[in-house]
Amino acid sequence: MKADVFDPRALREALGAFPTAVTVITASDPADRPVGFTANSFTSVSLDPPLLLVCLAKTARDYPAMTAAEHFAINILSETQKDVSIKFARPLEDRFAAVDWARGPNGCPIFAQVAAWFECSMHDVIEAGDHAMMVGRVTAFESSGLNGLGYARGGYFAPSVAATVNSSAAGGEIGAVAVLERHGALLGDENLSLPSYSAGGGDPAKTLASQLERLGLSVHDWFSLLDL
Ligand SMILES: Cc1cc2nc3c(=O)[nH]c(=O)nc-3n(C[C@H](O)[C@H](O)[C@H](O)COP(=O)(O)O)c2cc1C
Repeated sequence: MKADVFDPRALREALGAFPTAVTVITASDPADRPVGFTANSFTSVSLDPPLLLVCLAKTARDYPAMTAAEHFAINILSETQKDVSIKFARPLEDRFAAVDWARGPNGCPIFAQVAAWFECSMHDVIEAGDHAMMVGRVTAFESSGLNGLGYARGGYFAPSVAATVNSSAAGGEIGAVAVLERHGALLGDENLSLPSYSAGGGDPAKTLASQLERLGLSVHDWFSLLDL
């Protein structure tokens, strides 16, 4: 697709083909109140010095507080923290009420049960189009060993579940099971049993998808099978 005919939705969808982890970026506003938002634009930039960056939309409510902060933190969410990601992406009055958090060495909110966290001093804020890149220099960090939450094509997934399914499939016979609900009703094969199929060493996703299609359902991609 050429630049002069870009459809913003198509562009978003194409960018969503890049699977990422999910973070919540936190800081304190001038009144020392915690602020934070869900972000998957996080990336590491440099090891020496230790720099990383995250992109923040200029339209975000906390844009002024975030970009003016002296310090900010990156909380890399773990596989069980999908609800935290959803909370910090919605316009809630007090996003922090539902999270177990404490202040880091420089005062930034650090969440419990995350895969890892990094606290940074603000190294640079670089404006780029409708976003700004917040470049941070790591001042403290911790890694818990928990697996990170995954995000791709607008849906969440658990990378460790995906890895287990794939390695089981490589090992031979596996069973593929789905729980289906449509318009509030449970769908089953004939007698409302859970659809369950045996894949003799083949690709479990393809087997399950072809059986679901026989029920009149379409499976768009592998991630939709792993949606949390
Ligand atoms: C998985 C996911 C990733 C997101 N990544 C970003 C991001 O990298 N940068 C950004 O500015 N907004 C991102 N957002 C959207 C913001 O979280 C959301 O717009 C923001 O929290 C809204 O805040 P406001 O209502 O206070 O403006 C993401 C949302 C989700 C669900």
